[in-house]
Order: sequence, then structure tokens, then C-alpha cells
Amino acid sequence: MNIPKKIKSICCIGAGYVGGPTMAIIAQKCPHIKVTVVDLNAEKIERWNSDNLDDLPVYEPGLKEVVAEARGRNLFFSTEVEKELEYAEMIFMSVNTPTKTYGKGKGMAADLKYIESSARTIAKVAKTDKIVVEKSTIPIKTAQAVNKILSNTNNGVKFQVLSNPEFLAEGTAIKDLNNPDRVLIGGEQTEDGLRAIEALSDIYREWIPNDRILQTNIWSSELSKLVANAFLAQRISSINAISALCDKTGADVDEVAKAIGMDSRIGPKFLKASVGFGGSCFQKDILNLVYIAKSYGLDEVADYWQNVIKINDYQKNRFADSIITSLNNTLSGKKIAFLGWAFKKDTNDTRESAAIYVADILMEDKADIFVFDPKVTKERMFEDIDYLQTRSPEENRKYLNYGDNPYDAMKGAFAIAVITEWDEFKDYDWQKIYDNMNKPAYIFDGRNILDHKKLKGIGFEVNAIGK
Ligand code: UDX
Ligand code: UDX
Repeated sequence: MNIPKKIKSICCIGAGYVGGPTMAIIAQKCPHIKVTVVDLNAEKIERWNSDNLDDLPVYEPGLKEVVAEARGRNLFFSTEVEKELEYAEMIFMSVNTPTKTYGKGKGMAADLKYIESSARTIAKVAKTDKIVVEKSTIPIKTAQAVNKILSNTNNGVKFQVLSNPEFLAEGTAIKDLNNPDRVLIGGEQTEDGLRAIEALSDIYREWIPNDRILQTNIWSSELSKLVANAFLAQRISSINAISALCDKTGADVDEVAKAIGMDSRIGPKFLKASVGFGGSCFQKDILNLVYIAKSYGLDEVADYWQNVIKINDYQKNRFADSIITSLNNTLSGKKIAFLGWAFKKDTNDTRESAAIYVADILMEDKADIFVFDPKVTKERMFEDIDYLQTRSPEENRKYLNYGDNPYDAMKGAFAIAVITEWDEFKDYDWQKIYDNMNKPAYIFDGRNILDHKKLKGIGFEVNAIGK
């Protein structure tokens, strides 16, 4: 197979939260490589090309500076998928892989329809040999399936499929891409496979030390991505489970987290108790792991990991429940303000955000919810709640409201629920907010970010997680 010594052209399918920032950094670090990101969604591409860098479809601290530097030089965004794929030497697949909502594996397995259609398009249009890199999170053995599609082209073009999972976290994507703990590259252990692994390693070596670039077989790489996310999520569910115990016993979950995190074998990260983890990856990847384990008859393994999700659901329910109970089991006609709708701070992404599920529960009790989030749009908020199909869109708009500014969102409220840990929430004028609320004025701090002592001093009834 023809594998160039130095890659000069890359095309990435999928201009989303992963594809966009990742390609922007590769283009910035490797000015000798032409990087084109393609997407079926024309509006998204238009926004990536927008002169107004505040209008990029992905919000990430530091991203617009990188785009400003590389766009038009060696970074391009386009909807011409087939044209761009035709001659690229290396193709990244960064399309979304949601949990299946139908058929076999419904609610658990990853839906690979976009991966498959991308592979078919590549097979159809390719005129030169190509390295195809899986960036999307996928079940193990997907590379095999992609390979099968690619090897049936009958036009003499050869392919090598690599797995190169992304470990960036949203909100810190640029930092994570600049300075990753490791880069993982899996490939076929054949002569061509190893050369393809080297070609991709060379790109990362432009800015990442060689000892952080791990080369493995393709299945280890695919599985490691799922396992990394499952372990991270497991830590959150572990501390959230303990937060429930803290609520009953008077122990303070942050103190417990600190005490155990100082044990260097445990470590301090990912031990922040919360209203529950969200994001497009954790739940989906665990469900994927559970599905794979089940399909090999490993029921005990599947049950073990399923419980990480069970605790996460429990935590969201527990939080909603504490609001309902504190307000005397009657929410009808009562205004409740949400601070935050995003699944974490510093992102406009809301996929699987705890906010959606907590709002849904409170809306069943006819609460009047007013949401303020510094980056999430009103349209996105309604899309999220409509997607659940608990109520009609009209009814959702009756109970869910969008606040253009935080003070209006909280004015006249009976309770405030802090759902996302945005830094700016800490700096609000809490005395003013208290003065404008119904009394008793409740705060449910789902992230334990506010100064509870100060709030109690003002007169708030403070409810925190695991305190
Ligand atoms: C990534 C990973 O790829 C996914 O596997 C992981 O689980 C979450 O992170 P992400 O970049 O966050 O996905 O998804 P998204 O922001 O939805 O971007 C995917 C893009 O691919 C979308 O813009 C979509 O329009 C595009 N797409 C999808 C195509 O261009 N072609 C397709 O056939 C399907
Ligand atoms: C995650 C992984 O961290 C990343 O490596 C992978 O590539 C994609 O999935 P992401 O989902 O973007 O990244 O964000 P992350 O920082 O992991 O947070 C996930 C969720 O867990 C958020 O809702 C966050 O608020 C929550 N969380 C995180 C906690 O509740 N407590 C913690 O201690 C840490």
C-alpha cells in the first residue's frame, strides 16, 4: 500500500465538538498539512467559516484564537464531502455515534449508521490509497466492520484503518489537545498497519513528546476509550453514592473526597460530588460496554458497570426529590430558577445534561422553571426537553422558560437550583437575589460551588449535595 512518508492532506468527516477543535489544533501545529473538515450540516459549516469568531458552532475557551490563526491558511471547512475525500491521504471519522433508539441493542448499543455511511462514501469516491482514522467512540471491532466496507471497492484503492480515540474533555478541549496525557493509536499489526501507525504518530510528534504516544493493536485502542470513560464515570458515581450517605450521617462529602483523594493511590481528581454526570460520552460508552459484555455472556461484568448509570440516575432523582419535598410537595405555580443548563461549565453542549432530567421531573409537578445559562441558547433548551417526549412541545413551553439574564430568572423564585458549575455564579450579588425572592428562599446547590456559610448568613435555606 502507498503510504506517504509525510502526510500532506487530511480530511475530517464531522465538524462537531471533537472534529472541529481537534482538526483546528492539528492545522495550527502542522502548517505543512492541509486540513479540511467536512460536514453534512451546511449551517454548521457556514458558522465555522463565519467572520464573527464568536459565532463558531462550538464554544471552547481558546478555540477562536486557534481558528483565527489557521483558517484559510491550511484549515478549511466545507460541505463538499465527496470532493474533499477523493484525494486526502488521511481521513478522520469524527461523526457522532449515539445510543441506538431502535431495533437490536436499543437503548444500549452504539448506532453506527453514520460511521457506516461515511465508510461507504469513502469507498465510493476514493481514487488514491488512504489511512482511515476512527476518532469517534465506537464499540470494539468497529474497525473490522469499516475495513470490510472499504475492502469491497473493487477499484484497486487500498486502506488502513486506525483507531485513535479522543480523550479531550469539553470546556478544556484546547488545553487537552495541546498537552494530552497520552495519544493512543491502534492499528493492524502488519507491515502496512505499522507504517500507517507511524504516519499518524509523526503528525502528533510535531507537538507531543514521543513517550506519550502509545501504539497498540486496534482492539486494545478501541476498548481503552470505553474503559477510560467508564472508570471516570465510576469515580463520580462512587462519590455520589457516598454523598447520599453523607446527607444522612452529617459527614461532609467534600471533606471525605479530600481525605481519600490525598491518598496517592486514589488521587484527587473526579471526586466532586454533583447532581449527576452528563455529556455525550459517559452514559453512552458505559451502555456500550454493558452491551458488549452481555453479548459475550458476561452478565456479572455487565451488571457491575450498569450500576454506575443506576447511581447516576438515582442522584438526579434524589436532587429533584429534595426540591419537591422542601417545597411541601407542591410546585404548581411556583417559580424555580435553574442556574445552568449545560452539562458542565465552559461549554454550550447540553447533551445528557442533568438539567434536562431534573427539569423534566419538576415539570411533572407543574413547576414554573426559569433557566439561565451563560452559553446555552433558548432553542437548544427547548430541543432538549422536547426530545424526551414527556409532554407536548406546547406544554413544555408553558412550564419551561428562558431567562436572558440571571437576576430576572431568579426574581420572585421560591427556589434556585445550581445545575452547572459556571464560575460566574459565585460572583452574583446574592443579597440582591435574596431580597427579590419569595421567602423562605431556597438554594439547592447541585455542584457545591457557592459559599454556603455566606448564603445562610443572608437568610437562604441552603441544601447542598452530601453536606
Ligand atoms: C464525538 C465523537 O465522534 C463521538 O463518538 C463521541 O461519542 C462524542 O464526541 P461530537 O463531535 O461530540 O462526537 O459529535 P457532534 O458534535 O454531534 O459532531 C458530529 C458531526 O458529524 C455533526 O456536525 C454531524 O453533522 C456530522 N455528521 C454526522 C456528518 O457530517 N456526516 C454524517 O454522516 C453524520
Ligand atoms: C469525558 C472525558 O473526560 C474525556 O476524556 C472523553 O474524551 C469524553 O468524555 P466530557 O464529557 O467532555 O469528557 O467532560 P468531563 O469533564 O469528563 O465531565 C463529564 C461529566 O461529569 C460532567 O457532567 C461533569 O460535570 C461531571 N463531573 C466531572 C462530576 O460530576 N464530578 C467530577 O468530579 C468530574
